[in-house]
Amino acid sequence: MLIKSNPSWVMKEGQETPESIYLNRRNLIKGFAGALAVGSIGGNVGSALAQEGRKPLEFTHNDAYVLDRDLTPEDVNITYNNFYEFGSHKQISANAAEHLKPRPWQVVIDGLVNKPLTLDVDDLIARVGGLEERLYRHRCVEAWSMTVPWIGFPVQKIVDLVEPQGSAKYLRMETFNDGSMADGIGSQPWYPWPYVEGVTMGEATNDLAFLAVGAYGKQIANSMGAPIRLHLPWKYGFKSIKSIVRFSFVEERPVSYWENISDGREYGFWANVNPQVPHPRWSQATERVLHTGERVPTLLFNGYGDQVAHLYDGLEGELLYR
Ligand code: MTE
Repeated sequence: MLIKSNPSWVMKEGQETPESIYLNRRNLIKGFAGALAVGSIGGNVGSALAQEGRKPLEFTHNDAYVLDRDLTPEDVNITYNNFYEFGSHKQISANAAEHLKPRPWQVVIDGLVNKPLTLDVDDLIARVGGLEERLYRHRCVEAWSMTVPWIGFPVQKIVDLVEPQGSAKYLRMETFNDGSMADGIGSQPWYPWPYVEGVTMGEATNDLAFLAVGAYGKQIANSMGAPIRLHLPWKYGFKSIKSIVRFSFVEERPVSYWENISDGREYGFWANVNPQVPHPRWSQATERVLHTGERVPTLLFNGYGDQVAHLYDGLEGELLYR
């Protein structure tokens, strides 16, 4: 029987380890030679963690996505993570996530489609016809944020590959569910594994919906969701499912992992960023920008409203912002 339990990241903000203490303790930023210039991936910041064996990727930089702040250093992105399959703490990469084996990695794309596919992630990458780099902001529901130079391709590319039928209304995604690669699966049996997320077809085919296979010029780090993870920059971070093994085009709305855990009371299906709609237990008005010591106002749809606000026309009765 499923035992419902609150994740530790629903704690009040003040209860988190202050970032400065966390970072100093680990001495992570030592080798970092200054903030990377916005619009360029700069050099390799040289973390000893989670770097081994990650290949550099070929990609073109997409100028359409510009940031209003500096890039978060790679070391910070790799070492400050939510990845519950490996435990409910932020220090995932230094230990547990190194057990993840991102290759070989089979991906299934199925459901209400004309051309279902089962293929290796590298074959999928070869079939989408070129990778691009996009600089995105990432806003966690816990009220911290970072920026990431993702490398990947729009979700639209897999839609094109499998040709969903008219009856497909949602895209459901699932993370691996293999306790031999991830200790947290077995040690936290009260969570409803596998991690599941879903989006409407309108959201999936919006240009912002991005599947990342790399970051900072290389294959994506284990702790960030290797070998392939979603990023939806206008939604709270928990929608951006990591280490995906299955994409299914379905008629019924999927129940998301945290929606399931909280019975929809704290985390919902839509989870669009909105500073004016507080989480039941804390404000969403501002966010802590990791590595900067700054707290800045949070923007509606995390600043991406021009591209996505229209997706929610006529849905005002839904809990769009949690
Ligand atoms: N995907 C899986 N499979 N497991 C998780 O625990 N955490 C989510 C999301 N995707 C999570 C996941 C949450 S709460 C956030 S904020 C982001 O991943 C964190 O991504 P990052 O660690 O790369 O910053």
